[in-house]
Amino acid sequence: MRLDGKVALITGAARGLGRACALKFAQEGVDLVLLDVAGNIEGVPYQLGSQSQLEYTAKCCQQFGVVVRHMRVDIRNMAEINQAVDEALSCFEHIDILVNNAGIAAPSGKVVHDVTEAEWLLMQDIDLNGAWRMIKAVGRLMAQQRRGSIINIASTAGLVGYRNFSGYVAAKHAIIGLTKAASLDYAPLKVRVNALCPGSVRDCETVEGKMLSEIARSLDVDVNEHEAVFTQSQPMNELIEPIDIANAATWLASDESYRVTGSVITVDAGFTSR
Ligand SMILES: NC(=O)c1ccc[n+]([C@@H]2O[C@H](COP(=O)([O-])OP(=O)(O)OC[C@H]3O[C@@H](n4cnc5c(N)ncnc54)[C@H](O)[C@@H]3O)[C@@H](O)[C@H]2O)c1
Repeated sequence: MRLDGKVALITGAARGLGRACALKFAQEGVDLVLLDVAGNIEGVPYQLGSQSQLEYTAKCCQQFGVVVRHMRVDIRNMAEINQAVDEALSCFEHIDILVNNAGIAAPSGKVVHDVTEAEWLLMQDIDLNGAWRMIKAVGRLMAQQRRGSIINIASTAGLVGYRNFSGYVAAKHAIIGLTKAASLDYAPLKVRVNALCPGSVRDCETVEGKMLSEIARSLDVDVNEHEAVFTQSQPMNELIEPIDIANAATWLASDESYRVTGSVITVDAGFTSR
């Protein structure tokens, strides 16, 4: 087991890529603190992960024999985050890995001048500020430990633009900036910060991911049509599988990537190579 004895905090762990990372980490021997808002957020026009999905992720991970805690935390709320980190520390005494995965894809689907201020701010508050808050809560501890791996789940939208997704694209570009800046702050302290940029991921039933269908809905496009367009636009002519992201996160979390920091790694079947 490549990560045996490590402790990871994963946000947005109720379903989707967060669940995929949690399952893979558990398989590799990581004790887990799984965080999710586990409920809907006003202004987000689709259902987010639920409490029962968060509990299900935890139950599946426990089957690998690791210790798993799960907590309801909204990454917009610094007090909730700090409380979760305190609880994690009283349980495990160290935190080695932080996966900043929680995110929303919508409100989106509008030309930039039609986006309301509330929609813009909500998107930034979750997709960018949430990751910063998590780093703020965990970074000092990792610096004291002189070890840690922070993995920010960005997107190909952090590298290129997508029409009618200005808020999401801006937040994901900013997360890459945050990754680079934080990696410099922490490099002498042996804490690593990297970003993963998934291409279009298949909404896989096992992890109950919803993003692809929600992006299609925001664009008012049929999900099958949307899948076909993205399959074609990714040069390998395949969608990304959640396990592809979990595998990349596992490598970034492991000591195999010990001198990798400030990197922006695409897992996009060639989409951004064009
Ligand atoms: N699925 C894709 O095609 C794709 C592609 C590129 C990047 N990403 C990124 O991957 C990450 C995960 O996406 P996914 O596809 O698994 O989406 P998803 O909607 O299936 O899961 C996201 C999870 O984050 C949680 N969450 C949302 N807001 C939260 C908040 N304020 N506090 C705590 N938890 C919150 C949700 O409840 C949900 O469980 C996101 O950051 C997304 O931008 C996804």
